[in-house]
Amino acid sequence: MKKQIISLCLIFLLFPVIVMAAHDHPQKTKKGILLVAFGSSVPQAQVSFDNLDARVKKEFPNTPVHWAFTSHIIRKKLAKQGKQLDSVAMALAKMMDQGFTHVAVQSLHTIRGEEFDDLIHTAHAFAGMPGGIGRIRIGDPLLSSPKDMEDVTAAIIENIPAKRKKGEAFVLMGHGTPHPSNAFYAALMFNLQRKDPRIFVGTVEGAPTLDDISAMLKEKNIKNIYLTPFMSVAGDHARNDLAGDEADSWKSILQGQGFTCTFVLKGTAEYDNMIDIWVAHLKAAMAD
Ligand code: CO
Repeated sequence: MKKQIISLCLIFLLFPVIVMAAHDHPQKTKKGILLVAFGSSVPQAQVSFDNLDARVKKEFPNTPVHWAFTSHIIRKKLAKQGKQLDSVAMALAKMMDQGFTHVAVQSLHTIRGEEFDDLIHTAHAFAGMPGGIGRIRIGDPLLSSPKDMEDVTAAIIENIPAKRKKGEAFVLMGHGTPHPSNAFYAALMFNLQRKDPRIFVGTVEGAPTLDDISAMLKEKNIKNIYLTPFMSVAGDHARNDLAGDEADSWKSILQGQGFTCTFVLKGTAEYDNMIDIWVAHLKAAMAD
């Protein structure tokens, strides 16, 4: 009788545990990486994505690497060509379905602008979902911290073509944004000019503008300029707004003002020293 009472008590004690276990489906840890870029419709830009993909897979050989692209317009454009690319929400939903428990999301954006804010909101929504991915960590864009400022400055200077002479300018074209983080571009120029007063940073859609830059070039009596995009890919902005033949391209405007222009059409993700910075951010996200 005593034995029966003890077993009965045990059953009642264990009952809640059994119920919980039945509803909880304790999952095995499954770690993944999601790389997030704006995207590009220019085929030559693919070299940047391939570069990043190869490098991340080399650094994390046992972690599956997925991709997502934040530009709706570019995804639509490529879908018409038969190339289906995932948005962040689509990629995270797929990873959730595939049983990923820990996902490191690495932003391949340049600054913490609107796209990055959206990325944080989407990732948080997935992390808070019942049965969702338990842990999502987000790696910072290229230029996010004071240390990044130093590392990006050093990388830009290292990547300047050796044939550029001291009296010639080196001009970077950033994207620019109405978001407050647009201030990073002017901050970067300030930091670069402390090392080399003939390096300039302008933007297509924010400040400093091309007018700001050309006024500075004239003030410093510079005639010859090297120009390059400060974006992860040398895509549409680099090929058209920067180096295109249209009347409103930087090339046409600057040549019209008497400058001699040489173009370096390479995105930042084509340089190993820039990829190092993104990979360091991903490592920090993975370690958390
Ligand atoms: Co744009």
